[in-house]
Amino acid sequence: MAVDIQEMANSLSLLERKLLPYLKEETTVQELVSSSGLQEVEVNRALMWFRNREIVSTEIVEKELVVLSENGELASQFGLPEFRILTALLNGPKTLSQLESDSLPRPEIMASIGVLKSKQSATVSRVNNNIQLELLPAGKILVENNLYEPQQFFNNHKSFPIEFHSLDEKERSIVKELSRRKNMLKVEIQKTTIVRLQPLGNQLISANIDFSNLEEQLSDTMLKNGSWKGKTFRTYDVKSPVPPLGLRGRRHPAREANNIIRDIYLKMGFQEMEGPWVETCFWCMDSMWIPQDHPARDVQDTFFIGQNGDLPNPELVEKVKAVHETGGDSGSTGYQKPWDPELAKQLVLRTHSTATSFRYLNKIGNVDGKYFYVANIFRNEAVDATHLAEFVQAEGFVIGDNLTLSDLMGFIREFYARLGITKIRFKPTYNPYTEPSLEAHYYDEQKKKWYALINSGIFRPESLAPYGIKKTVIAWGMGASRVAAILNNKNNLRELVGPTVSFDWIANHKTPTSDLSETKNNVSEKLNESIVDGVQTNENKSNFRGDL
Ligand code: PHE
Repeated sequence: MAVDIQEMANSLSLLERKLLPYLKEETTVQELVSSSGLQEVEVNRALMWFRNREIVSTEIVEKELVVLSENGELASQFGLPEFRILTALLNGPKTLSQLESDSLPRPEIMASIGVLKSKQSATVSRVNNNIQLELLPAGKILVENNLYEPQQFFNNHKSFPIEFHSLDEKERSIVKELSRRKNMLKVEIQKTTIVRLQPLGNQLISANIDFSNLEEQLSDTMLKNGSWKGKTFRTYDVKSPVPPLGLRGRRHPAREANNIIRDIYLKMGFQEMEGPWVETCFWCMDSMWIPQDHPARDVQDTFFIGQNGDLPNPELVEKVKAVHETGGDSGSTGYQKPWDPELAKQLVLRTHSTATSFRYLNKIGNVDGKYFYVANIFRNEAVDATHLAEFVQAEGFVIGDNLTLSDLMGFIREFYARLGITKIRFKPTYNPYTEPSLEAHYYDEQKKKWYALINSGIFRPESLAPYGIKKTVIAWGMGASRVAAILNNKNNLRELVGPTVSFDWIANHKTPTSDLSETKNNVSEKLNESIVDGVQTNENKSNFRGDL
């Protein structure tokens, strides 16, 4: 596909536009830095984008360079110290002080003495407390015929750095010898990035695009004063080839499980509920006839916020108070103890989503319906392999006439069958607000163990009386994380949520499908049409806390 040059030009970033005029058939990063006046990081960034768009190609080449150090610079300018000494001695012997100058400091002279002696070109003697140097015949020949090779090297090369590989054998060994001298010269490896224009780059440059009208950014001022009108803005380049991403975003397996549960509820005709995470004890406990001295109201089990919330309308509070103290008009005797509105005002992190179910029962009253909620809840537990302090409960209830325990059991079977969980058994349990109460357990074929899945029951008349509900309400709460664990074949909750979960697994796991097995149970017809599923998310416990 032909690239639209104007379109590409409009998508160039400011840095790219600044660098564009300095691109050549072949250049280097260093040259671009000095020609464009941009900083090296800016040049490199612009080049990276240019490379992604195939406007340029880059190649890194390594070079060995002969670089002068401090004494090497002096030698290049004035000659090597030993050679200068020899030259100075042509006119007769000299003392150290006579030889010394700004460009030939005493330490350099001292260092040269060894070289001069080894080449038998000068002698050193003590004369009247002075050190005196005198030329020997070999030295004379060296100077007069310009035979001193290290000096020849400096004479031959006037500008540095020079490329080591351009030198012949002899010069290379001189360089090696000189590199052993203090602060003389070094052979350094230098990386150079060569930048070459690609055909697209040539087209872009020869198109001679005028960027003067291109706006980099739309600002609030432009929006306010309308000056954006008629301007061309830099476009996003959505076609630029970028390196492929190794990993794509994935939904967390625990959240996938929540969605699967939600999906099943919706397919079974349930309506979704929503409620606050921070609740008053009124809605979390009192509203459903949990007694005020119940152990679940202890700090051991519940996170108290340390503040009070508001009670609902006084008529409802009166009815709840009556049902607690005397049974009200529910036919029960109640707890025969005073009910304290102050305790009901305390704010807590909701310990179960049944709080929301009761808000809805209050709202809908004596009307048929099926409701569910996949809700985050909190319990003050010691965290271990099967217990977390925050977890997800998939709550539900069905309100209607003539509902029985068998409807509840049928619903549970149906719901789990849709998750592929069919080996289920039931066990009686206790909740203050349901009678009868029922747990369902499932058999894990791999671990050869039964695990609790759901806590459920039929709401007691005492719990429904304040809302004027005469119909039957079957209800439950299930551990969504338990479901997530089953669907993903995980035994330990820590392999599913939290910091110890394998990142690779989250990124690459296979999403379980929801309708694993569509209703292969013998569920009664009545169930199919009106049943709620509900599972208690007390995932964590092998035995549900039947106390909420
Ligand atoms: N609230 C109960 C729990 O958290 C679950 C439940 C809901 C049980 C509704 C019965 C009826 O364990």
